[in-house]
Amino acid sequence: MKSYDNVVIFDHPLIRHKIAILRDEKTSMKEFRELVEEITTLMTYESLKDGVPTTEITVKTPLEECTQQVVKDNAIAIVPILRAGLGMVNGIHVLFPSARVGHIGMYRDEETLQPKSYYCKLPIGIEDKLVLVVDPMLATGGSACDAIQLLKDRGCKHIKFMAIIGAPEGVSKVAEAHPDVNIYVSTLDRCLNEHGYILPGLGDAGDRLFGTK
Ligand code: PRP
Ligand code: URA
Repeated sequence: MKSYDNVVIFDHPLIRHKIAILRDEKTSMKEFRELVEEITTLMTYESLKDGVPTTEITVKTPLEECTQQVVKDNAIAIVPILRAGLGMVNGIHVLFPSARVGHIGMYRDEETLQPKSYYCKLPIGIEDKLVLVVDPMLATGGSACDAIQLLKDRGCKHIKFMAIIGAPEGVSKVAEAHPDVNIYVSTLDRCLNEHGYILPGLGDAGDRLFGTK
């Protein structure tokens, strides 16, 4: 895959370890859910190292007063792409408990692989927040592209997208359609199969998170 200025592929041994367990077809639904959350927390930590909205406060230590940067209240919104993105929300809430959550419902048409939008509810004032769009799987890239466009149409200016597993074609599609959006992917897989599933991948993330198959 071509390299893009707005794409970061994590290559961290801890994340690789957790993804190995996530891929395993024998991993239980409970463990799968927990791993998705843990990986998301690690990804969030890395993805935000270039800047989190902060403000300065004064703190009195036992020895003296000092000023200190803290995360600005109410400055971050999490937007999972339903359903599978829901599995990543708690992994970010652990770090930002007061982050507001918006929901974008999308499913892929099984024949055309085109995303169909069926739900959207976003927090008031989202246009002024740093928006973290999350979905574990970035396959053709259609769902992520449309979700990001929807947020831009609502006035969002600061958007980051996080996926756990990406296919090269999907990563390229989102990177080129939205060069102003930073894209973070934990691991880049080989390709898509004829049904639009990522290989080697982990199967259907929504089904594995919610036990629907
Ligand atoms: C999956 C996944 C993404 C999408 C990725 O959702 O969670 O949203 O496919 O594919 P794309 O990059 O080709 O658009 P799915 O449509 O299976 O819905 P679900 O999460 O409700 O199962
Ligand atoms: N959605 C999934 O859940 N898995 C894939 O491999 C592709 C899309």
